[in-house]
Amino acid sequence: TGDLARKKIFPALHSMARRGRLTMPVIGVASSALDREAFRRRVCESVQEHGDVDTQALARLSAALQYVQGNYRDHKTFERLAETLGGAQRPLYYLAIPPDLFATVVEGLGRVGRAAGKVIVEKPFGRDVASARTLNSALTRVFDDASIFRIDHYLGKEAVQNLMYFRFANAVFEPVWNRHYVERVQVTMAETFGIEGRGSFYDGVGAIRDVVQNHMLQVVANLAMEPPAGEGLERLRDERVKVFRAMRPVDPARLVRGQYRGYAAEPGVKPGSRTETFAALELYLDSWRWHGVPFYIRAGKCLAATATEVLVEFRRAPRVFDEADPGRPNHVRFGLGPDRLMIALGARTKAPGPALTGRDVELAVCDLEGGEADAYERLIGDALKGDATLFARWDGVEAAWRVVEPVLSLDTPVHEYERGGWGPSAADDMLRGAGGWRPPMDAACP
Ligand code: BG6
Repeated sequence: TGDLARKKIFPALHSMARRGRLTMPVIGVASSALDREAFRRRVCESVQEHGDVDTQALARLSAALQYVQGNYRDHKTFERLAETLGGAQRPLYYLAIPPDLFATVVEGLGRVGRAAGKVIVEKPFGRDVASARTLNSALTRVFDDASIFRIDHYLGKEAVQNLMYFRFANAVFEPVWNRHYVERVQVTMAETFGIEGRGSFYDGVGAIRDVVQNHMLQVVANLAMEPPAGEGLERLRDERVKVFRAMRPVDPARLVRGQYRGYAAEPGVKPGSRTETFAALELYLDSWRWHGVPFYIRAGKCLAATATEVLVEFRRAPRVFDEADPGRPNHVRFGLGPDRLMIALGARTKAPGPALTGRDVELAVCDLEGGEADAYERLIGDALKGDATLFARWDGVEAAWRVVEPVLSLDTPVHEYERGGWGPSAADDMLRGAGGWRPPMDAACP
């Protein structure tokens, strides 16, 4: 009955039904006092809110729905669930629940002898290295590791997979994709909206745990990884994990935390909260390929645009022409959505006229296909098939926590920022002398 189910999971199940891939019953489990009919209505409303409804698919989804009401801390809830599961052999459990209940629910499933299945665990997976280890032990006491699917929906996005594909499928980029040619990398994840009724969840989490430790570091991993050696998709996960291991723990002096004005008055947020809704940080990788290249990450709520974008900036060409303003160095820019999926190459061309002066242009491939399925639909389908390629592996999750561990405490300053801008000015100061942050979407696409 939570926000994630409403926004992402029910629409994904509806799309699966549309494609004829919803061939199993779907049992909702929550404490809300609903019966089956009320639960169905709620699911239908979520799908309708999302738009693009296929009435027949919705009817099929609705017919597949059942509901078990109960508290997750109550053994009887699991007895009722077990009864509803009936003869199901390998159910897929999706824990779209508050993170502090993951272990309780998995233990509950174990107690009623229903652990012969697979489990999708939402993020954040723990709160730091130690709690992630405790959670992982609790899960692996009940499910074997191959049956645990740690979801990071960014890995399921076409545009995020394309970061890696584009690099390794085009010979022209590989020779320059390293410290010899790349000056710096920026990753921006901006959202115009705030916490949208998720106050009680978000306030205990904040931007670093919500999106940096997972989504942002996965994006960096796809940008920075080595080509996989050997056969099989598991090799891709090996390479991503090696990038996390190469990441230096973030220096608290190179972190800016921000909070949008009015956050502390949001429902569910503790008065005087110091939780960040914005984070900007500098990251280094201790690897042969990336040594000395800064990766700048910023992510925030209530900013000027909703867009996730990567900018790989190259070193400047030597000065040949006598121009007062030599313009921008080259870049490759990846628009990862949600609206615009694009790749652009920033270059310099001669400006028309008698002088040998130039202008900055972008050669852009706009509106790349987002693929038939949204990330959640893709990932639920993969988990049903038992394919974990696009899920986070335990060693990677642990290594990613180690990267952000020094900046998880709330001791560093939190700067208030106005809604609708680009976060606190301290974040701009961080990139002064490094060309500044580039706003997403300032480019060639119409
Ligand atoms: C979720 C975060 O994981 O990702 C949200 O909890 C965030 O805070 C969301 O808004 C963004 O996902 P997407 O796919 O819309 O970029």
